[in-house]
Formats: sequence, structure tokens, C-alpha cells
Amino acid sequence: MIPKQVIEEIRHRCDIEDVIGSYVTLKRAGSNRNGLCPFHSEKTPSFTVFPATQSFYCFGCGAGGDVITFTQKMENLDYVAALEMLATRAGISIPNDPTPGGSPTIPRRRIYEMNLEAAKFFRAALFDPVLGREAMAYLVEHRRLTGATIKRFGLGFAPNDFGMLTNHMKKAGFTEAELIAGFLSKKSQRGTLFDLFRNRIIFPVIDTAGNIVAFGGRVMDDSKPKYLNSSDTPGFKKSRVLFGLNYAKEYCGEELILCEGYMDTIAMHAAGFQNAVATLGTAITAEHARLISRYTKRVIINYDSDEAGQKAADKAMQLLDEVGMPVRVLKLQGAKDADEFIKKFGNDAFHSLLRSSSAAFDFKMDKSLAKYDLATTDGKIRAARELTSLIAATHSGVERELYLNTASARLGISVESLANDVKRARMRQIREARQKQSRDLELTARHFGDRVNPDAAKDPAAAAAEEVVLGLLLLFSEHRKLCATGTITLTPEDFFTDLGRRVFVAVIDAEKSEDGFSFSALGEQFSPDEMGRLVRLQQDRQNLNNNGKEVLVQAVDTLISLRRAREARASGDFTSELAARRARIKKKQEGN
Ligand code: CTP
Ligand code: MN
Repeated sequence: MIPKQVIEEIRHRCDIEDVIGSYVTLKRAGSNRNGLCPFHSEKTPSFTVFPATQSFYCFGCGAGGDVITFTQKMENLDYVAALEMLATRAGISIPNDPTPGGSPTIPRRRIYEMNLEAAKFFRAALFDPVLGREAMAYLVEHRRLTGATIKRFGLGFAPNDFGMLTNHMKKAGFTEAELIAGFLSKKSQRGTLFDLFRNRIIFPVIDTAGNIVAFGGRVMDDSKPKYLNSSDTPGFKKSRVLFGLNYAKEYCGEELILCEGYMDTIAMHAAGFQNAVATLGTAITAEHARLISRYTKRVIINYDSDEAGQKAADKAMQLLDEVGMPVRVLKLQGAKDADEFIKKFGNDAFHSLLRSSSAAFDFKMDKSLAKYDLATTDGKIRAARELTSLIAATHSGVERELYLNTASARLGISVESLANDVKRARMRQIREARQKQSRDLELTARHFGDRVNPDAAKDPAAAAAEEVVLGLLLLFSEHRKLCATGTITLTPEDFFTDLGRRVFVAVIDAEKSEDGFSFSALGEQFSPDEMGRLVRLQQDRQNLNNNGKEVLVQAVDTLISLRRAREARASGDFTSELAARRARIKKKQEGN
């Protein structure tokens, strides 16, 4: 737990307009600023920064929060890591003492220290002439790595022993709880710790700040599993890290090569392609795509040539397209992956392959054309239909024109008639997208499909009343006091949705605590999506004229009578439900 004063200090010193302004071009709009949302793709700005409340909200995608939430989302960090980053920016140091209460979470910094120590141990084992003999031979003879490459990537070896690492780490001062949390050791049924990585080549995974965040361990034969990876630990989320980016970041400003595995990345760097990185396995995420888009201008996808790899390439293309990255796809022939290709055919062959890598459209076109028999009229028509809808989905007019020419040549159909079809397909796609958009909006309006607060759809009236109460409590300390002191009686049980209840409890607890309430501190308990919702509740209230006590009292009454009605329904007592409902209607009429 970071003290609230420190959080407030960081928030105070990191002006939201400055911080967001370093990622997004902001334009003045009255007392606010707006720009294109960095969290979804849009052409007209719906992303708004409110300097007065030091918050942001996107009216398009619902992302919102304060400067900490923004940093979390933008840099793919958790709450504490985002705070640390902002603290560094503001020149503030965060006190590093564990809570006296003894929270079981291990600080990420400790995990990194532990991983560094473990990496040194693994490396020493690899270079030990006895312990590491077989492993070194595997890397040098079988995988053809030079000593320089082995050292540069910090490769190591986990000895074939159940306790060497654990013992070493304990001697170095790491506790059992830390070793377990860091995925280095595991507790056996007898209650003793044992090493998780055994008899494996070790690949350290290093983030762009230089921290060792995880390890991958490969067997040296065909046994299973081929790789063992650290599972997500306090310092590591697989969906947020790219293997090799710590080295590639110096070389990938123009172009980045994206591949699947540890060995592909290493082989490419060794062959002089130091702009290569890997998703660990084939699962590329939107977070990866965002991360990539911050380091490079265009991407060459170089996934394995098997089916899984090609599927992943499609997915990567789509995700990268969403963040506006031009993408090309490298087709490997005669080898299953880049590592094998380079070993078989050499650097020069790989280099010329890179030059000729087909653009994403050509790749898709090849795939479409391969499906149909172009010698028949029917095959040609079907292929043309598929290509026109492919071309229609391309945003840029220049690109559409280029693709039309290529497609026309390949199909033997005139550019004009293809262009006509593309135009029609485009109109249809735009119409469908609009319809979908308005459907989505309608659904959100009715609380259906609300991912952040799924309970809301079950009782929209209760959800609406909750939003009023929470918006007021988040904004005004006098309202918080009324509830915290019991002047207004409102209990967690009066809330219908789980989110509402949790927010209420958090707000009141904070209000009663020594440090008092701080909106930013909520980020510790609520996800960035939930924080976005809380900002929206505040914005909704702020746009209204009347935010006085009577509004709060009325919404609280509604919540309480809805709860009574619910309880009555549950116990089958309809008369009291009707009475409650009558009372509510009467109150409303009096209010008007
Ligand atoms: N992977 C994994 N766990 C597995 C298999 C694969 O985490 N059981 C990840 C690893 O990051 C691996 C990548 O997926 O590097 C690609 O897998 P694969 O193509 O099977 O391995 P290669 O990297 O080609 O490894 P090698 O060349 O050593 O066989
Ligand atoms: Mn391989």
C-alpha cells in the first residue's frame, strides 16, 4: 500500500494535461481539451481531458480516469507500476516499507532483484565446465550460437537438481514466500521447496527498463513440455511483454520484425536483424499491438509457417491494423521458422526474403485466390467477390486504388468493373458498421452488454439511482460526510449492483480513514475500466445544475425502497411491495 499523501502528491505534480499531451495531440475545447482517443481508433476526437477535475473520458469507448489510470492503460502497467513511473517523472520517491499489517504481496522490485540473482546463478551454471557441459554443447553445436550471442541474451542453464537454485536463493536472502511468488520454486506435498526449472536452457525475459521479468526454460531433447515459462507474477504479464524488445528498441524505429519464439529472435539478432522481437508463443494481444506501435513505424510479421503460425499472423495483422501499423508478412518456404531458415539458407537469403516480403494485402489476396479455380467463370466470380470486399475494407483511398490494379491483373477483370463492385461493397460495409454502432449504443444505453457493471441490466431503475448516489459521493465531500456519519442512512446492502456496492464501501471507508478520501487512491482497488466508469458518473453529475442534498436524499430513498421491494418479492409479500411503490410514486409527484 502506497500512502495516500504520496499518491496525491504524485497526482498533483503530474498535471494530466502535460502527461496526456505527451502522447496525444490535444486541442483546446472551451475549458477542456480534446483529441483522438489513443485507446480506440477514431477519426473525430471524442477523447476529452478535463483539467479542472484532472480527469479524462472518451465519449467513444468509455475509457476514463485520472492521470494514473491513463498511464496504466497507455503503458500497460498495473496501478503500482504506473504510480512508480509517474513518481519518477515528477522526481518523487515512493517509500518502500512493507505495510506493518503484513500484506502478503511481494513488491515487484523484490521480484526483479530475485530474478537478477537467479539469472546470475543460471549463467554461472551454463558456463561451469562440468555442470553446464551438455547445455553449452547444445547451444553451440546444435543451435549454432556463438559465445557472444549467448552472453548478450544472458542465456543460462538450470541444473538437473531439485534444490540447487532454491538453496542458493535462500542463502542470498530470499524467503520461501518470495521464491514461490516469483515462480522459481514450488512447495512439495511434504512442505519443502523445490526448483521449478530443472535441466533446461534458460532464456531471461527482460522488459524495456532492463528488469528481468520472467524466465523461459527449454528442454534439450524432445520431452514435454518443450518450454516452461514463469506464469504471471507481480512483475510479469505475458500479454504485455515482447521478448527481445529491450535490445530491439534501439534498432526498430523504422521497422520491426515480429516472430514467435525465443530462438527465432536470437537467431535473427545473431544474423544482424536486431529489430526482431517475439510474442511468447503465438498469442498476440491488443496490448502487444499498442506496445509495438510505440516503438516502430511498420511491422514485418514472421510467424511460423505451420497452420497455428499463419492463424496467429492473421490475428496479428488485424490487431496491428487497428493501431494503424502498416504490416507486411514474410512467407517462409522450406523452413518452419526463421531460426531454421537462417540456419539452412543463410543470412543473405533471409535478407532478400525480407526485401520481398509481401504486403498484408498481397498475402490475403494470395490466400483468397488459392481457394478458387480461376479457370472457371464461377471461380472467378467468387474470387472477385472476396477480393472486392477485402479492398472495400481498406481505409486509405490510395491503397484501394493500388490493390484494384493488382486484383484486376490477377483476375483478368477490368479495373472499372472491379471498382464499381468495391464502391458498392464499401457502401454496404459502412452502412452495416453504422447500424452496428447505433445498436451498440442503444444496448449500452439500456445497460445491456455492460461489461463493467453487468448487474445493471437486471434492474435499470436501481442502477440509475445508484449512479446518482455514487456520482454525488465521488464529487462532493459534504455528501460523503452525510453518509459516513450516518446523518443519511445508507448501507452497502442497499446497493443492487456489485460494482455499486464495492464503490460505496470503498468511498465511505476512505472518508472515515485517517487520510481521508482520494479519487486516485481508488485506482488501487478498481480496474482501469471501472475507473473509467467512475469518471463518467462524475461527469454525468457535473453536467447537471442541481447536485444538492435533496437530490442525494431522493436517490437514496429510491434505492432503499427498491431494496425493500426486492426483499418483499423474495419473501412473497406483495402488499408491502405495492405500498412501497405507491409511496415512491407519491413522493415523485410531490417533488415535481
Ligand atoms: N512456447 C511455449 N511453450 C511451449 C511451446 C512454445 O511457451 N510448450 C512458446 C515459446 O516462447 C516458443 C514459442 O512459443 O519460443 C514458439 O514455439 P515453437 O515454435 O514450438 O518453438 P521455437 O521457438 O521454434 O523453439 P525451438 O526452435 O527451440 O524448437
Ligand atoms: Mn524454432
